[in-house]
Amino acid sequence: MCGIVGYLGYREAYPIVINGLQRLEYRGYDSAGIILANGSVSGLYKTKGKVSDLQQITENKNTAGNLGLGHTRWATHGVPNNENSHPHVSNSGNLVIVHNGIIENYNSIKKELLTRGYTFSSDTDTEVLINLIEEMKTKNNCKLGQAVQLALNNVVGAYAIAVFDITKPNEIIVARLGSPIAIGIGENNSEFFIASDASPFLEYTKDAVYLDDEEMAIIKLGREIRVRKILNNDIVEPNVQELKMNLEQIEKGGFDHFMLKEIHEQPSAILDTYRGRLLPETDVIKMGSVDNHIAKFLNAKRIVIVACGTSWHAGLVGEYLIEELARIPVEVEYASEFRYRNPIINKGDIVIAISQSGETADTLAAIKLAKSKGAFVFGICNVVGSSIARETDSGAYTHAGPEIGVASTKAFTTQITVLTLIALKLGSLKGELSNSELHNYIQELSLIPSKVQELLKVSEDIEKIAAIYKDAPNCLYLGRGFNFPVALEGALKLKEISYIHAEGYPAAEMKHGPIALIDESMPVVVIATKKGHYEKVVSNIQEIKSRKGKIIAIVTKGDTQVRDIADHVIEIPEISEALSPLLTTIPLQLLSYYIAVMRGCNVDQPRNLAKSVTVE
Ligand code: F6R
Repeated sequence: MCGIVGYLGYREAYPIVINGLQRLEYRGYDSAGIILANGSVSGLYKTKGKVSDLQQITENKNTAGNLGLGHTRWATHGVPNNENSHPHVSNSGNLVIVHNGIIENYNSIKKELLTRGYTFSSDTDTEVLINLIEEMKTKNNCKLGQAVQLALNNVVGAYAIAVFDITKPNEIIVARLGSPIAIGIGENNSEFFIASDASPFLEYTKDAVYLDDEEMAIIKLGREIRVRKILNNDIVEPNVQELKMNLEQIEKGGFDHFMLKEIHEQPSAILDTYRGRLLPETDVIKMGSVDNHIAKFLNAKRIVIVACGTSWHAGLVGEYLIEELARIPVEVEYASEFRYRNPIINKGDIVIAISQSGETADTLAAIKLAKSKGAFVFGICNVVGSSIARETDSGAYTHAGPEIGVASTKAFTTQITVLTLIALKLGSLKGELSNSELHNYIQELSLIPSKVQELLKVSEDIEKIAAIYKDAPNCLYLGRGFNFPVALEGALKLKEISYIHAEGYPAAEMKHGPIALIDESMPVVVIATKKGHYEKVVSNIQEIKSRKGKIIAIVTKGDTQVRDIADHVIEIPEISEALSPLLTTIPLQLLSYYIAVMRGCNVDQPRNLAKSVTVE
């Protein structure tokens, strides 16, 4: 939520900050702002709307300066308008801040500052914070770094901030608690980049420092960065990491949208996720992060999966997989519920946290709670070095590559891939799977990338179906067993990017209520794979047909029975039911994508959403 970009060096800051904001726009796009300075402010521009709107209002304006801070906002405090946009400037006009997060006690601080004569032009918590920093600086007659530290020790909440003093244009202070921040370091400390993730500075440097929670950094031109603990001022040795991501990975590569590119990347993303872990020649699954704790996994009385949104749907598929293949009881919890309901965690329970971004606040809080109750926490994350990856006791990366479209696609299928590997590994070690069953699953899993590739070829057929139903006000998604979570995920994809109301149900639940909604204008997407509860699902389809509902069925190649009754069929290659979500998901992603495009929606940046939900 919210993206921060900063530059301090010898180049013009404007293009670096603007391009960086564009790359971080997935983090929020309610408003955007930029400040440029060179000893004095050459420009401070803010606007409601997107970075492209910001670019427009800066055309033919003064954008000179080797120091710049920019922000793209996902509104929390205060409506999206120009006043509430960042950067915010202190009352003296000297201190500038951009902020990602929430200062929970801003109201009481604001009241105190008002009594001291401070005034505020926005409704934001951030303007309160920069004036608190100013107050600390004036009261204690101290340097900016110390003032930031004193202020942060008085606030409750979450933040990633970058602050500078216009009169000292060779220094930026950054700090983090609960929201990510990366610092890119140019050759010989001749320039520095600051960003919510490393994508804004990939073409300039591969050396980056990721701040940990409760750390701040003092960045001065020509000097090594100094990192300190916010609480007690302890010095921390900065851990300079070499970035592995490249520019190509974060560009659209000829596709109209990131979402479509990411849907098409799934064959390679799934392959990258099991590469080196799945060894089909020897029927072995090698996962160091599980192997190193294998006794814990094999003796687990229960596995609790915590996640949000699409990752929660992957967790549900994980429940079916682990219970079916390894016979370990699994519960799947919304992280946001788990963290607030005093959950029972027993000795011997394992908690698996799933998160693409690795920054989701609710999931992070659930992990901390589980750890405080003595659980062993295993993470499944996509973003390397993210907060969740660091907070968990062990974990496996999904290796899907950067996912930029706000709607999750390849993250979902790669999360399921990791869960499948874990379930197969545990199932075989616990003796729940015979060698030949394991062999068959491993062989099938190794063929998934080529089957997904084959499935992507039916895109045109799906586009035609999308054209028929693009104006439907509602849509139902039905599936059973392993494909019930896929139905939920299909409905989520449609509603979040096309704004069509959609619901997913277990197919047999329809008769307990949702069937009342069926009429000739209701499209119903039904997953009816041959090895699922096929005959039962066929009966459900008949029930819908006799009420004139329109059926879009996902069936196994060669199916004739459903073809006879459905309005449209999309075939998936033959696969065992446990692995079928890796295939049935793909046409549902494409259907949502095409419908959203035809409705003129902003597919990559749907309204009101952001990619990385770092607030509660
Ligand atoms: C939906 C979507 C969200 C995320 C959810 C969790 O397409 O992307 O529902 O899945 O916000 O995010 P992560 O996986 O980053 O924890």
